[in-house]
Amino acid sequence: MVPRNLKSAFYLVGEARPGSAAAPGRAWRHWCSRSAIALNLVCTLLLVSASAKAADKSEPETDRKAFQAFFFAKFPHVAKDDFGNGPYAVNEAMRKQWKEIMEFPPYEIALDEGHAEWEKPFANGKHYADCFDNKGEGVRQTYPRFIAETGQVETLEGAINRCRVENGEKPLDPMTGTMASLTAAMAESSRGKPFAITIPDDPRALAAYERGKEFFYSRKGQLGVSCASCHMSPAGERMRGDILAPALGILAAMPIYRSDWGSMGTSIRRISTCSSQTRALPLKADDEDYRNLEYFLSYMSNGIPIVGPGTRP
Ligand code: HEC
Repeated sequence: MVPRNLKSAFYLVGEARPGSAAAPGRAWRHWCSRSAIALNLVCTLLLVSASAKAADKSEPETDRKAFQAFFFAKFPHVAKDDFGNGPYAVNEAMRKQWKEIMEFPPYEIALDEGHAEWEKPFANGKHYADCFDNKGEGVRQTYPRFIAETGQVETLEGAINRCRVENGEKPLDPMTGTMASLTAAMAESSRGKPFAITIPDDPRALAAYERGKEFFYSRKGQLGVSCASCHMSPAGERMRGDILAPALGILAAMPIYRSDWGSMGTSIRRISTCSSQTRALPLKADDEDYRNLEYFLSYMSNGIPIVGPGTRP
């Protein structure tokens, strides 16, 4: 069940989007719905111009600025570069525990495995490095990417699996295991590099961004909650034993070792766990909806540095 304090938070925020024009519009809509017939023309004009506005091309940069401003105002004491540390960035007590955990980071084993796997040649003699820009060093912050050939978004895990398949190897489970180890190694070489997601000048790229944004804000599942319901206004609040991570920088620490998993997980493992918490029907790990969601979330974090691999309680 969603705790009571969260329920009231959902009610209060009503999922208004930072910087969106929808919220201020509500007052006149309400007034219009009750006004006399003589005023109908004025109202019709207002409604028509409002829907024309809603149909306007989305402005990802405007969205990103409003999204980030929301979190900078909410957490004035959190440094911009620290948002990727999620719950540890916004909760002092957790930060202390974290410092202790980081003396022996539980993702070290995965990092070792990741480096070893990265160096190992495929059966055809090629390497992962042959599939990536800059041989895969320091590129994690540029994923997910929009790929013109497919017209779809590709995640880092998707790029690794494509590399394997193109070289005659079987794809890996995108959620954990060797995949998490490989992305841990790639994240490590990208630490400190700010997210730099691009939306190329292609209507399909913008549409993918739009669909990701829609997913983030739409209420789903039996609980009728959205990602935003938990990771926007209630960020920093306690939910069961957890402190809710702010949506800004929420993928910067991936992959993560979580004690309650007892293993490593990639972005998509965390996203699908959260999705099932809303009791929505789970999608396939490489479902286009999830990829678009990751595209949107990562774009919102442009400028926030990679801190992965990470560790969480
Ligand atoms: C009912 C509340 C709830 C909803 C809805 C929810 N989450 Fe979460 N999410 C959590 C909790 C609790 C955690 C674990 C604590 C934390 O790190 O925030 C978490 C963690 C995460 C993390 C890892 C954060 C970190 O720093 O380790 C990501 C990424 C994430 N959620 C993404 C999403 C996405 C994407 C959606 C929508 C599909 C979503 N969440 C919906 C509650 C929720």
